[in-house]
Amino acid sequence: MRLIDARRAVDGEVDEHHELQRAASLADYPGAPPPTRETTLARLRDPDVDLGERLFWTARLDGRLAGHFVAQLPVDGNEHLGMVRLVVHPELRRRGIGTELLRVGAAELRDRGRKIVEIVQVETNSPGFRFAASRGFRTVQTSIFQALEIAEVDPDIWAVPPADGYRLVRWSGRAPDDLVESYARARHAMADAPPGESAFRVPDWTVDRVRRMEAGYRENGIERRVVVAVAGDEVVGVTELDLHPLRPELASQRDTAVSAAHRGHGLGQAMKASMLRWITADRPELRRVWTSTAAANQYMADVNHRLGFATMRRYCVVNRALAGL
Ligand SMILES: CC(C)(COP(=O)(O)OP(=O)(O)OC[C@H]1O[C@@H](n2cnc3c(N)ncnc32)[C@H](O)[C@@H]1OP(=O)(O)O)[C@@H](O)C(=O)NCCC(=O)NCCS
Repeated sequence: MRLIDARRAVDGEVDEHHELQRAASLADYPGAPPPTRETTLARLRDPDVDLGERLFWTARLDGRLAGHFVAQLPVDGNEHLGMVRLVVHPELRRRGIGTELLRVGAAELRDRGRKIVEIVQVETNSPGFRFAASRGFRTVQTSIFQALEIAEVDPDIWAVPPADGYRLVRWSGRAPDDLVESYARARHAMADAPPGESAFRVPDWTVDRVRRMEAGYRENGIERRVVVAVAGDEVVGVTELDLHPLRPELASQRDTAVSAAHRGHGLGQAMKASMLRWITADRPELRRVWTSTAAANQYMADVNHRLGFATMRRYCVVNRALAGL
């Protein structure tokens, strides 16, 4: 087991990670196209900026890359939590490698003061699910992946103006100074999305956090686009999307939230539609947009369907206490 700096992986190492991810994808998602080398590289290079510092362990067996365990350490109210992904090469499963990765990673997370480990993406009814159950994890949230194939959608369905009394404002990278405070406040509206029993809490959004995150996206070469709904001079709704330089064909639709007092006016749909018009106008190389949302969040899933997204599959989030692992 070794802690590595995945962002500095060189060619031969990227090839090894690619072989691992390709093999795992073919075994675990036989119906889906396996990741390209660029996708593997992007996964090595790009941490999820919103989820804080990233730790990346690799497991080797006789020199061969056998698996990895990636933990992120969120801050601003989530200092109790480590958010984890792990995978073992399909040819090397059931030899205790996953258990060993979990043991080593859990020890470090405990040393860092974390109390709960949450595995962020586990397919129901998969080896991963059975592994998690055998290690004492329980399901705390069910989510869905949705994808929009741009070529298959009539862009007219994105002609959704905001309701009277609201205007939309967009920016890339840096929130304008005159909106940044109410933007940070509006981000708290995510707290009303169905949380399930996930231990992840909506971060304590402040202007300082907004500026730190923006700096993080810039350092990682991620273009963060934001569309907000404004009433008077207050941001009352937000939607956000990431463009990654290594994956020019794919955009990741991230959080969308509308403050409680402004719900019921179709702002979520208007903001997302505006985002889709924006990215398709100036990013002709884009082919698809993906997003995920809690399965219980029927409202958001329906908004996405109306904009052309199709539900691809379900997955769950599992967690347990770090004590005893
Ligand atoms: C989950 C995963 C990392 C497990 O790796 P692994 O090295 O095979 O795990 P281990 O050998 O340490 O398994 C430990 C125990 O988990 C359980 N387990 C693991 N895979 C299982 C399976 N396919 N069916 C039933 N139980 C299973 C067993 O109790 C096993 O102990 P045993 O082999 O003595 O019976 C691997 O299957 C994987 O990469 N899956 C795809 C990615 C994924 O789902 N990640 C999320 C993980 S929660």
